[in-house]
Amino acid sequence: MPDTFKNFVAGEWVAPATGEYFENRNPADWNDVIGRFPRSGPSDMLRAIESAKRGFARWSKTPAPIRGQVLQRVGDLLVARKEAIARAMTREMGKVLAETRGDVQEGIDTAFYAATEGRRLFGRTVPSELRNKWAMSYHRPIGVAGLITPFNFPLAIPTWKMFPALLCGNAVIFKPAEDVPHTGHLLVEVLIDAGLPPDVVQLVHGQGSVVGRAMIEHPDVPVISFTGSTETGSIIGATCGKLHKRLSLEMGGKNAMIVLDDADLDLALDGVLWGAFGTTGQRCTATSRLILHEKIHDRFLTMVCDRAAKLRLGPGLDEKTEVGPLIHEEARQKVAAYVDIAKKEGATVAIGGRIPQGDKRLECGWFYEPTVFAGVKPGMRVEQEEIFGPALAVLKVGDLAEAIRVNNDVRYGLSSSIYTRDVNSAFRAMEDLENGITYVNAPTIGAEAHLPFGGVKQTGNGHREGGWEVYDFYSETKTIYVDYSGTLQRAQIDTYET
Ligand code: UN1
Repeated sequence: MPDTFKNFVAGEWVAPATGEYFENRNPADWNDVIGRFPRSGPSDMLRAIESAKRGFARWSKTPAPIRGQVLQRVGDLLVARKEAIARAMTREMGKVLAETRGDVQEGIDTAFYAATEGRRLFGRTVPSELRNKWAMSYHRPIGVAGLITPFNFPLAIPTWKMFPALLCGNAVIFKPAEDVPHTGHLLVEVLIDAGLPPDVVQLVHGQGSVVGRAMIEHPDVPVISFTGSTETGSIIGATCGKLHKRLSLEMGGKNAMIVLDDADLDLALDGVLWGAFGTTGQRCTATSRLILHEKIHDRFLTMVCDRAAKLRLGPGLDEKTEVGPLIHEEARQKVAAYVDIAKKEGATVAIGGRIPQGDKRLECGWFYEPTVFAGVKPGMRVEQEEIFGPALAVLKVGDLAEAIRVNNDVRYGLSSSIYTRDVNSAFRAMEDLENGITYVNAPTIGAEAHLPFGGVKQTGNGHREGGWEVYDFYSETKTIYVDYSGTLQRAQIDTYET
C-alpha cells in the first residue's frame, strides 16, 4: 500500500474533507507508485484561506529582518536535504539527478537572497517640493498570496514565488501541479521545520480546475502568481481582471538559438544539446528553434544530429542518463502529434520522431527519442507552437537581420540566444531580439536566481520573478508625507512661492 499524504492547513497535516486521493507515479517506471495525494475540494481551500488570513495578521507584523532569518534557516535546511529532495524529485518527475540537484540549488539561492533582502527591502526618501515636509515610500505586505506552480521545476519555481512573498510579509497558499505533489510536500516540511509560524503557509493538493479555481475566485486572496500554460493563464487572467487582483503570469516560450557563421561551433553544439534536450525539453526556456546561418547550416545540422542521436535515454536516477522521460503519456502523445504535423507541413524528421524500441529499461516509462526537424520554414506549426518535449526545429537564414526577424515572429518572448564572435552582432541581437532574456554564447536556459526572470508578449503579463523586481510584485507601495511646518501647505499651489 503506497503512503498517503495530507494537506497542510491551519498549522496541521490534515486529510482532505473530500476523502478522495489521486495516485502519483514515477514517469520513468509507471509501476512505481510514489504515494496517494489529496484530491481536495473547495471546502479544503476555504479553510486554508481562513487560516492564511490569521497567519497574515501575525506575520505581516513580524519585522522583515526576522522574517529573513526564517528564510535563512529554510536555506540551511534545503542545503542539508539537497540530495534527498533531488532524488525524490527525479523519481517524481523524471529529469536527471544533476538537474534536480540544480533545481534544489536554485531554491537555496532564492532563500539566501530573500534572507538578505529582509535587511534591505528599500523604500525611498525624496525631497518634498514644500519646506518642512518629508516625502517617502516603503514596502507593505499585501495579504494572502495564492501560488500555482508547474511540474518542471517542482522546487525552484515554488521558491521563486513563496520566498519573496513570505519575506514581504504575506501568507501563502501553495497549490503544486498534480504531477509533483511530493516535492511540494517536502518543501512545506522544510518551511515548518525552519520555524515558519503555523497559518503562514498552507499546502492544498488537488486539481487546478477545483482548488485552484476556488482560490483564484476568492476575494480574500488578493495576489495570484501562476506559472504554466498560456491557455490556463488566460483563464486565470480573466478572473483576476474582474476581481482586480494582482497577478503574475509566466507562460509559454518558443525560444530560439541563433548560430552565425563566425560562431565557435563546438561551443554552440554543447549549448544546443543542453538547451533543447535538458529536462527532456520540458522547460519554458527550452531551446525549441535553432536558426542557422546558411554558411554553416549543413555542417552544424549534421553535428547536432550525430550527437543528439547518441544521447542516453533512461531513468533520471541512473547517473549515466542524459535524457529522462516525459512527465506523462499525454505529454508524449503531444510530441508524437507534432512529428506528424511537421511531416505534413513538409519538414523532415532528421533524427528521432519515435518512441524508443527494444530497450527493456525504457518500456515502462514515458520516453521519447530526441527529435530534430530539418527544413523548417517560418510559420510552420512546429516553428510557432510550444511542444514542451525533446523536439528541435531547425531553420536556415541568410543573415543576422533575417535571424532576428524569425526569432521575433512568434507570439511568445521568453528567452533567446546568439552564438557569434562578433561584438557588433552580439550587441545588435541584444537590442533587437524581443525576449525577456537573451544569452550571448550560451543556450536559452540557465537563469540565475538573483536576476529578473520573465518574458514579453504572450509569455507573461509584464511582471518578473527572481532578483530584486519580484519584491515589488509581492508588496504594496505606501507613500508617506510628513508635514512638520505647523501650517497648511498646499502642494502645487504654495509650492513655487519663494
Ligand atoms: C523554466 O524554464 O521553466 O533558466 C524555468 C533556467 C532555470 C529556470 C527555468 N534556472 O533554465
